[in-house]
Amino acid sequence: MLVRRARPADVADFVRIMGQHEVYRNLMQLPLPGEELWRKRLEGLAEPDRHDLQLVGEVSGRVVGSAGLHPAPQLRRRHVAMLGISVEPTAQGQGVGTALMQALCDYADGWAQLLRIELTVFTDNARAIRLYEHFGFRHEGTHRAYALRDGVYADVHAMARLHPRPPQAAWPAEPQPTTPTP
Ligand SMILES: CC(C)(COP(=O)(O)OP(=O)(O)OC[C@H]1O[C@@H](n2cnc3c(N)ncnc32)[C@H](O)[C@@H]1OP(=O)(O)O)[C@@H](O)C(=O)NCCC(=O)NCCS
Repeated sequence: MLVRRARPADVADFVRIMGQHEVYRNLMQLPLPGEELWRKRLEGLAEPDRHDLQLVGEVSGRVVGSAGLHPAPQLRRRHVAMLGISVEPTAQGQGVGTALMQALCDYADGWAQLLRIELTVFTDNARAIRLYEHFGFRHEGTHRAYALRDGVYADVHAMARLHPRPPQAAWPAEPQPTTPTP
C-alpha cells in the first residue's frame, strides 16, 4: 500500500468514502457529504502555512482510506494534535488502518513536535479501539450522550497517546570551573 499526502484532486475519493454509512456513523461527519465542502477542506489543508498532516492510503492506484493529524489551536497546546481516520468498508480489516496509523505516529514522534495525540471514539467501535490501543492510546474517560448517531445519543471514549520516548536535546556538557592549584 502507498501512503502519501492527500491533495485537492482526491476530493471524489473523500466524498465516496465519507458518504458510506459505516464510515460517517463512526465519525463526527454527516450523511450526504458535499463535494464543495470537501474540496474547500482539502484546499485548506494544502495551504503552506498549515501544519496539519492529511494522508491517504492507496491500493493499486485507488484511495481506500485517509488519516489526519490536526494541531490544537491554542498556544499552550502546541504539543497536541487531534487524530481522525477512516477506511472504506470493503478495505477494512486488511491492515490499511494500521499502515496509516504507523505513518501518523512516526511523523508525530520524529518530526512534528507532538507529545500528545488525542481523539474520541464511539464506545461500541471495537475495531477502532483495538487499533488505537495497539498504538499506545489509553482510555482517559467516557463522555455520555456525546453525539447524535442514527437518532440515538451515543457515548464516546476519550483516548490519547503520549510520546513513548519524548525527544531530549543532547547539549554539550558545561565546562567545569578549574580549581587553581596553590
Ligand atoms: C477503524 C478503522 C480505521 C480501522 O481500519 P482497518 O483498516 O479496518 O484496521 P486494520 O485492518 O489495520 O485492523 C486494526 C485492528 O483491528 C483489529 N480488528 C479487525 N477487525 C476487528 C473487529 N471486527 N473487531 C475488533 N477488532 C478488529 C485488527 O486485528 C487490528 O488489530 P491488531 O493489529 O491488534 O491485530 C476502520 O475500520 C474504519 O475506517 N472504520 C470506520 C470509520 C471509523 O470508525 N473511524 C475511526 C473513528 S474514531
